[in-house]
Amino acid sequence: MRNKNHPFLWGAATSAHQVEGGNKLNDWWEWEALGNVKTASGKACDHYNRFKEDFKIARDLGHNAHRFSLEWSRLEPEEGRWDMAAWGHYKEALLTLDSFDIEPILTLNHFTLPLWLYRKGGWLSESSVPCFERFAGKAVEVLGNDVNYWITINEPLVHAFLAYSKGIWPPGKKDMALAFKVIEKELSAHAAAYPVMHKTARDIFQKDIKVGVAHNVTKFFPCRARSIEDNLAALMRHHMYNHLFIWSLINGRLLFPGFRPRMLQSRNTLDFIGLNYYTSEHIRFGGHGVAALFGNPCYLPHHRIRFDWENTLGWKVYPEGLYHLLKDFARYRLPIMITENGIPAKDDADRVRFIEEHLSWLFKARDEGVPLIGYLYWSLLDNFEWADGYGPRFGIVEVDYASMTRTVRPSAKRMADYIKRKL
Ligand code: GAL
Repeated sequence: MRNKNHPFLWGAATSAHQVEGGNKLNDWWEWEALGNVKTASGKACDHYNRFKEDFKIARDLGHNAHRFSLEWSRLEPEEGRWDMAAWGHYKEALLTLDSFDIEPILTLNHFTLPLWLYRKGGWLSESSVPCFERFAGKAVEVLGNDVNYWITINEPLVHAFLAYSKGIWPPGKKDMALAFKVIEKELSAHAAAYPVMHKTARDIFQKDIKVGVAHNVTKFFPCRARSIEDNLAALMRHHMYNHLFIWSLINGRLLFPGFRPRMLQSRNTLDFIGLNYYTSEHIRFGGHGVAALFGNPCYLPHHRIRFDWENTLGWKVYPEGLYHLLKDFARYRLPIMITENGIPAKDDADRVRFIEEHLSWLFKARDEGVPLIGYLYWSLLDNFEWADGYGPRFGIVEVDYASMTRTVRPSAKRMADYIKRKL
């Protein structure tokens, strides 16, 4: 692989199950077949077959980076059996990016699990951590020559809460205690994979790789600005939701409510921080027991700090929040990459506004010294938005799902122009 050395990485992101199509051997496919989502993923964007066309669009827009994920269930369709043809597919994808001078940012796990692991209890099973560790090692062994930036797990907290507490993602559990256990498992899986990935890259390719996570962050505000309880709840939520996971990977200590504090071998297992930022929430003190401390989101229109507008999924859009979070995360003195930031929009003009406003706050933070190494818009393509199916359209490239035609939206060009002006 060529040494690209792009000073600022920028482009867009996707994930395997959301774009590839035909991922029949994972938990989501089964969950969809049982009628749990509006529309099943089916062929998705047929990106598994059309990746060259899609990467060419990114190249033509000037992107110098692209984030995507491996579909574990294709690579290890049965426990312990690697499908070398599937590994070859991802190798080819990486070589295509390389030929376009695009730096890959490769995610190992973006929400989906192979069915064989799901059937054994998924992340909660005894073998989830060792199986993930083995998968991570294999990925670096096969693809390590072509990848410098790795993300072990995408949004552990979002995944754990939606799948194990809210119950709208597989396996559909509604038990907060299980969600915390899953987060702990994903944290352990990252920590176990980290040294193996580094060692494999060093031993086989004599190179140093960068390993991070993609962590969802939200900007929280107290609902009633002068209420001590609301301020406390918003602050607690900020530290629990935004910081604790990242903090644990740097300082090696995990502390979740309901669990005894304990040390985990996760100290110093982060080379860069990936942040996914979409939205902002007002928090009002209330609830039962310990949960009261973290408050509840308040959706009434009575706040002092108003969010600018709402996206088509009802999430509040607050571009300035990106700036505050970046300044806040600079405390860790690690490189930061925005691994996702995006909007589902009916009107592309909303997307243009979203991108330009977020970028202006992002570059302000960078100009003030935040060690920012990249920005990846979510998503390159319209795609399968999990429980919401194909309704929401996040793409800077429109996908006509019937004909699979791609159409570059004006926002794609506006994003490219904005970033090129800043570099
Ligand atoms: C993120 C997730 C993506 C995508 C996006 C938009 O949480 O990593 O897979 O779905 O949100 O909702």
